[in-house]
Amino acid sequence: MLSDKEYVIHSLETNLFFLRIVKEHLIFAAASLPPRDRRIVTQLISIKKSTEQLLSEAIELADRAVRQEVLASDELVTDFTLDAERATQFLTGIPINTDLTRRELELRGLKKSRSVEGLHRNISVLNRKAIAITKAAIAFKRKLLKNISECRAFSYTYPTMLEHVIEEAEYYVMLLDKLEKRDALDSNKEIIQQEINWNHIMGEHSKFIRGYLDPEEEKLFRTADAFVMEFDRLLEKTEKAARCPELLEEVTEESLKAVIGLRDFKEQGTEGILDCRIKSLIPPLLADHVLREANHYIRLLKYFEEKL
Ligand SMILES: [Fe+2]
Ligand SMILES: [Fe+2]
Repeated sequence: MLSDKEYVIHSLETNLFFLRIVKEHLIFAAASLPPRDRRIVTQLISIKKSTEQLLSEAIELADRAVRQEVLASDELVTDFTLDAERATQFLTGIPINTDLTRRELELRGLKKSRSVEGLHRNISVLNRKAIAITKAAIAFKRKLLKNISECRAFSYTYPTMLEHVIEEAEYYVMLLDKLEKRDALDSNKEIIQQEINWNHIMGEHSKFIRGYLDPEEEKLFRTADAFVMEFDRLLEKTEKAARCPELLEEVTEESLKAVIGLRDFKEQGTEGILDCRIKSLIPPLLADHVLREANHYIRLLKYFEEKL
């Protein structure tokens, strides 16, 4: 059971991370549609605006109310995020609110003396709004994916990537539901489920990077391919740990090592894409986005290691 204080802090941290993730998924979906689907692009941008509004409310509540280790983990914003947003807005024409990023970069961590329990009513409202808006984004993307799968629409992103972002949004809704029930999510069973989910996500990122690189980027292609194989192996082992819990400690350690490697690769990739040195179909903000998801998982794995 989470205390009022933990409920407030965990909710704010979850919303800061995932609201930005959901908002960026909408940007990537909008940037990938052909001229025929202007109306859908407009609708995606309008849902994105609502998520930005909610993210702004979350940032407002979060100053001195989230843990320093979360701010320092580079999962909310990185040193590349502002540049990646500017470049992506320039390249796609999709408006991106960079003011939110500036405010997030200035967020201050929780002080011991600060009591945040009183925020729990505002947080409950925030969580419920976040559930509603994320469900709306999921429904919209499900419909788009159905049309693409049935060849009634076209997108320049892979269908698997659309499925991937829908799954991430569903995971966020599941986390918010658990937070509303004050579930601490830290039993060994729940740790295994989270590692299965995130190892699956890291494997798919490796596949997307491999698939979106220009065919001439052979060296980067081979590195991405090696990560695909490593995460396929790890996912299998994590699923095995669900049946043999004695494997959990080992699998957690191996996952952390692999994700740190993938994070470093993504970081170099983000730099290379921003500097126009890498040929690919990856918008700069997508590179930064998958980098942040790796940073988030690294923080979780370090916490799991301490708990086990
Ligand atoms: Fe994502
Ligand atoms: Fe992802």
